[in-house]
Amino acid sequence: MNPELKEKVQDIAQQLVEWRRDFHRHPEIAFQEQRTSQVLRLALEEMGLEVESLAKTGLRAKLPGKTDGRCVALRADIDALPVQEQGEREYISQNPGAAHACGHDGHMAVVLGAAKILTQLKDFFVGEVVFLFQPSEERPPGGAKLMVEEGALQGVDAIFGLHFWQSLPTGKVGMVKGPMMAQTGDFNITVQGKGGHGSMPQQTVDPILVASQLVVSIQSVVSRSVDPLKPAVVSFGTIHGGTIYNIIPEQVSLSGTIRTFDSDVHATVERRMREIVENTCQAFGATAEIEYKRGYPALVNHPEMVDFASEVTAKTLGEGRIMEIDPVMGGEDFAYFLQKVPGAFMFFGMGDGMAYPHHHPRFDMDEKALPEATLLLTALVLEYLDKNK
Ligand code: NI
Repeated sequence: MNPELKEKVQDIAQQLVEWRRDFHRHPEIAFQEQRTSQVLRLALEEMGLEVESLAKTGLRAKLPGKTDGRCVALRADIDALPVQEQGEREYISQNPGAAHACGHDGHMAVVLGAAKILTQLKDFFVGEVVFLFQPSEERPPGGAKLMVEEGALQGVDAIFGLHFWQSLPTGKVGMVKGPMMAQTGDFNITVQGKGGHGSMPQQTVDPILVASQLVVSIQSVVSRSVDPLKPAVVSFGTIHGGTIYNIIPEQVSLSGTIRTFDSDVHATVERRMREIVENTCQAFGATAEIEYKRGYPALVNHPEMVDFASEVTAKTLGEGRIMEIDPVMGGEDFAYFLQKVPGAFMFFGMGDGMAYPHHHPRFDMDEKALPEATLLLTALVLEYLDKNK
């Protein structure tokens, strides 16, 4: 490993903070990342990289080393959330209704940082590095799928990505071999009954009663139809119906989300949910419409790449940095990259002193994590190319 790597990262530590805060001040949500994309492009071009646009606001930059060899990619997601930021900080969002409340501003800063350092080292490594800046991670169908379709992984042999993680202490790294983040699915159910006077229920088909049965019965899918050793979640997020206490309404609508780590389990949950909705409605004389949207597939890390990334983490940041973590039920479209090439996705701790979770209006990150994450990404690239030359 290049002994000067740490120094090189220290030299750009201030720049990392400036990049991150600039993105933080100017958040843009899914596929509207025009300014973000422009700032990234200028920074990459200034480093002398060849940059192409793809997936609307996405970017792909290439850095060839001294001779041909393997090609390794780093990915950062670039979108913000439709959240009104709260708090006092000097770099608070200037865009009303949008905020970098998930840490993607930091992801961009550290991948730019890695690009900057690797550019300085390009005469010393064999192979090629590709930097992917991906729009719309937060909103399915997301930007990763489109990036892949438009050739983001052409010639790429391996990929790494990270997510800054508030529930891990600053500088700790968490990875899971195999499934690490969930397959997601969202549904809307509209129950159509027959409205009428609350005092004369015999003249109506009460969609509130049907919806209530559905909420309870659908909870039995996970407990009765899914292997208890395979995780699954079904949660209802909204239920709307009715206008006043003495009217039985015509309709009730419900929505919710399904999370699993296994696509067969996912299919079972979806099928059982549909059966319960259809048959329950029939039993009560109501009808229903179900809209079901599959979200991201499960994010499945390649075990040998997790081993490799763990070794590099210990070697670069020191022993004791890896933390045992459990898979999480959140979704992440880095999954699409991992379906195509070997790679690993990791959570990088930045939670010291941070009280608010991801997606909270007061979310923030410990910026001490920025140089450390940059160092790790840079080392992953160099070690991968060195090992596979
Ligand atoms: Ni995120």
